[in-house]
Amino acid sequence: MSYTRKIVVTCAPLISSILAQEVEALGMPVKSINRLDVETEGTLLDAMKLNLQLRTAHRVLYQLQTFSVNQPDELYQTIYDYPWENQIPLDGYFSVQSYVNHPSITDNRFANLKVKDAIADRFMKQFGRRPDSGPKSEQAVLFLYWTEQEAAIYLDTSGESLSKRGYREVTVAAPMQESLAAALLLSTNWHPSQPLVNPMCGSGTIAIEAALMQQRTPPGLLRGNYSFMHLKSYQSGIWRRLRQDLKLDQQSRRDAQRNIVATDNNPDAIDAAKKNARAAGVSHLIQFQLSDFSETPIPDTTNSSAGKPAIVINPPYGARLGEERKLELLYARIGDFFKQQGAGYYGYVFTANKALAKKIALKTSKKQEFVNGKLPSQLLEYELYTGSK
Ligand SMILES: C[S@@+](CC[C@H](N)C(=O)[O-])C[C@H]1O[C@@H](n2cnc3c(N)ncnc32)[C@H](O)[C@@H]1O
Repeated sequence: MSYTRKIVVTCAPLISSILAQEVEALGMPVKSINRLDVETEGTLLDAMKLNLQLRTAHRVLYQLQTFSVNQPDELYQTIYDYPWENQIPLDGYFSVQSYVNHPSITDNRFANLKVKDAIADRFMKQFGRRPDSGPKSEQAVLFLYWTEQEAAIYLDTSGESLSKRGYREVTVAAPMQESLAAALLLSTNWHPSQPLVNPMCGSGTIAIEAALMQQRTPPGLLRGNYSFMHLKSYQSGIWRRLRQDLKLDQQSRRDAQRNIVATDNNPDAIDAAKKNARAAGVSHLIQFQLSDFSETPIPDTTNSSAGKPAIVINPPYGARLGEERKLELLYARIGDFFKQQGAGYYGYVFTANKALAKKIALKTSKKQEFVNGKLPSQLLEYELYTGSK
C-alpha cells in the first residue's frame, strides 16, 4: 500500500490534457501527458483514490517492476522471479492483458500466456496449487507493457473501464461513453453552479454526468467492484473510509439547484434517461421532458462570475445512407434554436459530421477534436448573444 511508484492513468484519445488537469486537481503530480495516458506517481492508496474520483480516466495502472527483455523466455523468467504470492491471493483469480511491440511477438496472447504461466508455475512450486486465471477482468488484472527491449508490469487497479460507472441500466441508440461525456463538460465554459440544458439527451449521459459534477459525487462512488479489491493488500476498511469522506463532502452539496434540463422526442430515450438518473442518484437534479428539442425550456441565467450556463447537444450525425438529407434541416433548426432561445448561454454541438455542422450557420467561437468510439468528432462552441450574430 505504501510504496510510491509510477502510476499510468489511461484514457480515450485526445482527452489526456483534460485528464491531466483532473489528476493535478487531486493533488497528484503530472509527470507526462501522452496520447492515451497521463503519468503520475503515488501509492496503491493513491491509485484507489484516483479510481474513485477521476471522471475522464479509463484505467489506473500501478507499476510493479521495469525490466529489459529480448525474448519470451526472458519474460517468463523475470515474471517467475517476482513475488506474486504477495499480490494475488492463492485462492483468487487473475487475468493478464498487454501492449506489446516486439519482433518476437506476433500475437499479444502469446506474451499474456507467458506471464500467466510464469505466475502459475511459481505458485505451483511454492504451494502445490495456484490461483485460477482467465480472460475476465473482474478480479486481479496484470498489465504488461513491452516495447523493443524495455518492459514493465503493472497492476491494473481498475479492471473494467472506469467509464462504466454502473448507473447506465438502459441505453437507446448511440449512447456516448460516460468518461467522454464528462470530458466534454469539462472542456466547456459551463460551471456546475449554472444551468445546463441537454436537448436530444438520449439515455441521459451528458445530463447525468453534469448532475454528478453539480452534486460533487465522485463517479467511482456508484461502482461496486474494482480490480484492486481482489489483491492481497486490499483493506476494505480503508476503502470504506475513503468513500465515507467523499460522501460527507457530497452531502454538503445536497442543496444543489434543479437547473439541469434534459429533453428528447423519443419516449424510450426519456424512460431510459430517467431510469439511469435514478440509478445515479441524481434524478432530483434533472428536469426531464418528452418533446422536440426546440421546445426545451431554458432556465433563467443567474448573474455569476463563475463560468457560464450551457446548452449541450449531441444530435444524430447520419451514419446511415440517406439520413443525411433529413438531418440537414435538423442542424439548421439547431442554429435557429440557439439564436432565438439561447441568449446568455454558451451553445455546444458534439457531432461526427462536419458537413452537417456547417448547416448550423452560426460562427463558432471554438472547435475541439475528440474521438467518439472510433469516430473523429468535434465539440463546436457558439457564444450566444441577444439577437443574431
Ligand atoms: C446521438 S443520440 C444522443 C445520445 C446521448 N448523448 C447519449 O449518451 O445517450 C441523439 C438523440 O437525439 C434525439 N433526437 C433526434 N431528433 C430529435 C428532435 N427533433 N427533437 C428531440 N430529440 C431528437 C434522438 O431521439 C436521440 O436520442
